[in-house]
Amino acid sequence: MRVTAEHDSGSAPWWQTAVVYQIYPRSFADGNDDGVGDLRGIVDRLEYVERLGVDAIWLSPIFRSPMADFGYDVADYEGIDPLFGDLTDFEELLAGAHAKGIRVLLDLVPNHTSDEHPWFVESKSSREGPKRDWYIWRDPGPDGLPNNWESFFGGPAWELDETTGQYYLHLFHRKQPDLNWRNPQVRAAMYEVMRYWLDRGVDGFRIDVLWLLLKDETFADDPGPGQSPLTGPELVYGRFRPGCEDRPGIQEIVAEMRRVADGYDERVLIGEIYLPVDRLVRYYGKELTGIHLPFNFGLVTLPTWSATAIRDLVEAYEAALPAGAWPNWVLGNHDQPRITTRVGQERSRAAQMLLLTLRGTPTCYYGDELGMPHSDIPDEVALDPQIETGRSRDGARTPMQWYAGAGAGFTSASSTPWLPVDPSYATINVAAQETDPRSSLAFFRRLTHLRRERAELTVGSISFVDSHHEDVLSYLREWEGSRILVVLNFGEQTATVDLTEVSTGGLILCATDMTREGLVELAGMAIQPGQGLVIDIRD
Ligand code: GLC
Repeated sequence: MRVTAEHDSGSAPWWQTAVVYQIYPRSFADGNDDGVGDLRGIVDRLEYVERLGVDAIWLSPIFRSPMADFGYDVADYEGIDPLFGDLTDFEELLAGAHAKGIRVLLDLVPNHTSDEHPWFVESKSSREGPKRDWYIWRDPGPDGLPNNWESFFGGPAWELDETTGQYYLHLFHRKQPDLNWRNPQVRAAMYEVMRYWLDRGVDGFRIDVLWLLLKDETFADDPGPGQSPLTGPELVYGRFRPGCEDRPGIQEIVAEMRRVADGYDERVLIGEIYLPVDRLVRYYGKELTGIHLPFNFGLVTLPTWSATAIRDLVEAYEAALPAGAWPNWVLGNHDQPRITTRVGQERSRAAQMLLLTLRGTPTCYYGDELGMPHSDIPDEVALDPQIETGRSRDGARTPMQWYAGAGAGFTSASSTPWLPVDPSYATINVAAQETDPRSSLAFFRRLTHLRRERAELTVGSISFVDSHHEDVLSYLREWEGSRILVVLNFGEQTATVDLTEVSTGGLILCATDMTREGLVELAGMAIQPGQGLVIDIRD
C-alpha cells in the first residue's frame, strides 16, 4: 500500500496538517474555584496549549444546560452556561487562541436538546402547537411503548408525557428529547445556530452523533439482541439499531451542513460517527461535499492492540477513503476508556507515536499527553447517566493534573473538584513533567514539533515496510523524495528487525523513551517492548 496526497504542503487546508486537542471544559482548569472547570481556566492555560504544539482546540459543550449529560443536553444553543462563564469570557478565549494561531472548534449537538429548551417546552405544551412536530411524538403502542427502541443510556428510548398522552423519543437520557430532522424548520433553526457561532469567528464544529439524526419513519422494531448482522467492533454500542443509524437521507443533511460551513472561509466540520468503515467514509459526501472529517474511531474500537491488527486497520481505512478524502485518527475521547489504561503504561507512548505519525489529522484528548490513566471511579458514586448500562464514562473525565498539590492545580485546595482527581496526580502532572526532558509531555511536544518541521509527517505519503516480525509495525512517510521511517514494537519482548530494504541506516528524530538518539543501523536493529522510533532516512 502506498497512499499519497494530491496537493503540496503549502496549499493543504489548515485542518489537514493540524493536531486537534480536545478539551473537556468541566475538567481542564477551574478559574473561579467552584470545583468545575470553565472558560477562564482555559484562557489562563492557553500558553500550555500553545506549547503543546497543537493547532486547534475542540471544546465539549459549553452552552446553557441543566447538565443531565454534562452539557450534551443543551437548553440554549447561543448562550454560555454560567458554570463555564459568559459570552465575554468566550470571546476572550477565542481572541486569545487566535492570537496564538490556535483555532477553536465548538461542539454542535443537533440530534437532541435538553427537555428544558424552550423548543421542547413549547412542543410538549400541546398536541396542536406549532413546535409539536419539532420533536418525535408517538401514540402508545398496543403494549404501551410505541416500539422496542432502546436508549443508549439503558432502558426504553420513549418517555410518556402524561398531559398530552403521547411518548417522545430520546435516544439518550429522558432529559434529551430527539429533534425531528425531517422537519425543515428544525434544520433551518440548527443551521442558524451554526451561523451564529461561525459569524463570531468560531473555526468549525465537532458534530455530536451525526449518524443518528434521521429515524426510520415506519418506527419498525429494531432486531432483538443477538439478531444483528454486525459483530464485534462494528457493534460499537453493543446493539444494532437500524431504526436510527445511518438512515437513507442523512447525506442530504450532511451536505446542507457543509454548505453552511462553506459560506465562510477555512472552517471545518468533524462528525462523530460510529460505523463500519465502508459506511463511515460515505460521510465525506459525494465529491467530498459532506463533512471534512468523519471521525475515524478505528484505533478506539480495535479489539486487539497488535502490530498486525493496526496494520490491517490502517490499510483497510486508507483503501476505503474516497479519492482526495483526508484521513483522521483518534485514540480516545470523553466517552472512551483512556488509552494509557487500555494499552498499558508501557505501550502508551508507542500509541501516541502512532497517532502523531500516521497519515491524517490526529485528535488528542486532554491529559493523554501526560499519560493520565483511566480513573477508577466506583459505580456507586458515578455521576455519568450512562451508568445505567454499567459503563460509566467518569473515569475518562477526571480533572487535568497540573501539579502535585491539593486539587492538582485544577482547582484550589479548598474546593472539591466535581469528579475526584485521580491519585496518580502526585507523580503524573504537568509541573513534574515540565522539568523532566524525558517525560510523556516532553515526548508529546517533540512529536508535535516534528510534525511542524517535517512535511513528510503531515502531507507525506504512507507505505508499510515489512518488518518480518509480528510485533513490529513499520511504515515510511515520504515527501518530495525525503523519507521518515517509523518503527513501533507493540509486543512484550525485545524484537530484532532488519529494515535494510529501506536503507542502511538513519538518524533518530524521536524515541519513545527520549533517550535513544543519534545514528541507527537498520540491519539487526533491536527495539524494546513498547518502544518506538522515528528515523530520518539519509540515503
Ligand atoms: C455523544 C457524546 C456523548 C453524549 C452523547 C449524547 O456520543 O460524545 O458524550 O453523551 O453523544 O449527546
